[in-house]
Amino acid sequence: MTPDGASMTGLEDWLRACRSRVDEALDRWLPPADAVPARLHEAMRYSVCAGGKRIRPALCLMIAEGFGVSGNGPLRAACALELLHTYSLIHDDLPAMDDDDLRRGRPTNHKVFGEATAILAGDALLTLAFEWMARIADYDVPAGRAVSAVKSFAEAAGHAGMVGGQMLDIDAENGEVTIDELRRIHRLKTGALLTASIRIGGILGGADPDEMRKLTEYGRHIGLLFQIVDDILDIEGDAAALGKTPGSDARLGKSTFPALLGMDGAKREADRVRDEALKAAASLPRPISRMSELAGWLHGRKR
Ligand code: IPE
Ligand code: IPE
Ligand code: MG
Ligand code: MG
Ligand code: MG
Repeated sequence: MTPDGASMTGLEDWLRACRSRVDEALDRWLPPADAVPARLHEAMRYSVCAGGKRIRPALCLMIAEGFGVSGNGPLRAACALELLHTYSLIHDDLPAMDDDDLRRGRPTNHKVFGEATAILAGDALLTLAFEWMARIADYDVPAGRAVSAVKSFAEAAGHAGMVGGQMLDIDAENGEVTIDELRRIHRLKTGALLTASIRIGGILGGADPDEMRKLTEYGRHIGLLFQIVDDILDIEGDAAALGKTPGSDARLGKSTFPALLGMDGAKREADRVRDEALKAAASLPRPISRMSELAGWLHGRKR
């Protein structure tokens, strides 16, 4: 069921094009590095403009454009997702959290700017993310859709989503969790924002309730898949490709899929969840072909 190499090439090209659109817009819309307070703006730009796969923007644009909606509204929403994701990385790397030194191929934000500035840069990206998501109403996005997008975004980011998952992830350090508890942690800390990226694409595209249910289902599987692969790469991955130092999970006694199921078990779980995502993608009344290809790509990624 995995998409073949030939169609993957098309997907890779599309992802690359998406990345450059998003990179260009982020650079254009972020406050200039020399505007006061320059240290804050520099720190924000340092992490956002360091690159990254831009998967959350790609998911949002893939769905909105799959429904025939494009332009600055979806692009602004896509960039808002990336700001929020980048804030989560800056805070995730802090000494009080995962205490990591390398991110997106560069020293982590706190290593360069110090912890206080890294915390503030994260805070500023988080709040700017909501400003940008609300700004979609300034383009041609109907106000009702903009409000729904902001609501989905807030639900995914906070206590019942990513932040809640980060809390459970810390609580589970050096402890025993069941497979269902681990799925829950991964769905919250990582899956929630990936699902929101897809749902916001659907909201912008005017998906009906049945389509939204199916998109959400796909998002749930993609979200879990993404973190299972992240866990696998933390053991098998290469620092140069990942842009972050592998081995962080073992060092911190994190609860991960390889730790719970062994490497073979974790890979089987990734296969199973990828297949669930493919089923959800195929269940849409008007399938968006890239959704299946992307599930295969996320399953096979090396970075
Ligand atoms: C890393 O996310 C953090 C997780 C949620 C697993 P990505 O793997 O999307 O990181 P970037 O954006 O490409 O740097
Ligand atoms: C992070 O999970 C999830 C976030 C919300 C940032 P990890 O801690 O495994 O992410 P990496 O491996 O540091 O990118
Ligand atoms: Mg973490
Ligand atoms: Mg981490
Ligand atoms: Mg990780």
